[in-house]
Amino acid sequence: MLRSSPAVSPGASIQPAPGDGLDSAVDGGAGAAAAVGLGGQEAIVARDLLAWRRQLLRTSGGSRADLDWLLDLAGGLGWPQLQALHLHPNRTVLLSQPLAQLEHLWLRHRQRAEPLQYLVGRCPWRDLELGVAPGVLIPRQETELLVDLALELAPAAPAEGLLWADLGTGSGCLAVALARALPAARGLAVDVSDGALRQAAINRAAAAVEARFSLLDSDWWEGLKPWWGRLDLVLANPPYIPTATVGGLDPVVREHEPLLALDGGADGLVAIRAITAGAGRALAPGGVLLLEHHHDQSEAVLQLLAAAGLEAGQAHRDLEGVRRFASARRPCPGSLR
Ligand SMILES: C[S@@+](CC[C@H](N)C(=O)[O-])C[C@H]1O[C@@H](n2cnc3c(N)ncnc32)[C@H](O)[C@@H]1O
Repeated sequence: MLRSSPAVSPGASIQPAPGDGLDSAVDGGAGAAAAVGLGGQEAIVARDLLAWRRQLLRTSGGSRADLDWLLDLAGGLGWPQLQALHLHPNRTVLLSQPLAQLEHLWLRHRQRAEPLQYLVGRCPWRDLELGVAPGVLIPRQETELLVDLALELAPAAPAEGLLWADLGTGSGCLAVALARALPAARGLAVDVSDGALRQAAINRAAAAVEARFSLLDSDWWEGLKPWWGRLDLVLANPPYIPTATVGGLDPVVREHEPLLALDGGADGLVAIRAITAGAGRALAPGGVLLLEHHHDQSEAVLQLLAAAGLEAGQAHRDLEGVRRFASARRPCPGSLR
């Protein structure tokens, strides 16, 4: 089962930054519940933990689901254990780090709008737990579907094996998932952000799929020239938010996630134009391009795919029924259009 994620997303360290001015805020938070330190761990009676949670939400606001996400990812209390707190209030539970530390992280999230995923340094996504850090987009749940669509749409593997590419790989979420799902294929994942390429390399190593794809510093198709005309399957979740909309995003996104990953220019389509424009020569004949886009860009993206000479343009819906993805393929020589 997929663990739910807070609405947004990365965290270099789960240690509080020295002198970051939050110590007093922590003291003024929910207060000390009766807890016993056990090295990095801490034992606490369920009733006290529930009281801490109630008090912290009362004093700092925020959603219980998000605080439970933190207790799970940073405190080591999974959903069944969180449920059991109410059933067995006198039982002692073991947190994987001290309550004061969890409270500190939570207050950083509430007071500075820092994404919990950055604070914890991890983000559950599909069946993976990816490392994330500031400077790298936190993988979103809707993007999980892009992997299923890619597997559905992937052309039959040529004799030399399927070659795929992930444009704008960020944390490497799509590339790692694809590499695990298609072990016989080979891939290329590109980005222009050094931080993203570093994080993608960490996630690739953690998933033990280093041999299945390469990471390249490349402006969209540019660094893929040696493979132009041979790419069978290309996925991209490019920046697609119109510049004017970026300013209105939740502060947890706007103030912490990289603009390079979000801002798609005046109409949101700058990156999608660059990607579709190059697809005709970079894809192999019969090769498929699959894109994620903004909720209101479906028609525009299908037109760009057609204008690039691709065929069989198709819109695909997310789990809420919104057209969030588009695909098309390069015609094969001699195929009827
Ligand atoms: C929306 S994020 C997607 C990240 C990841 N694929 C995901 O789905 O979570 C877009 C990514 O494109 C990268 N990017 C932006 N401009 C680029 C360019 N010109 N060439 C290659 N990558 C670019 C950003 O650094 C960012 O990592």
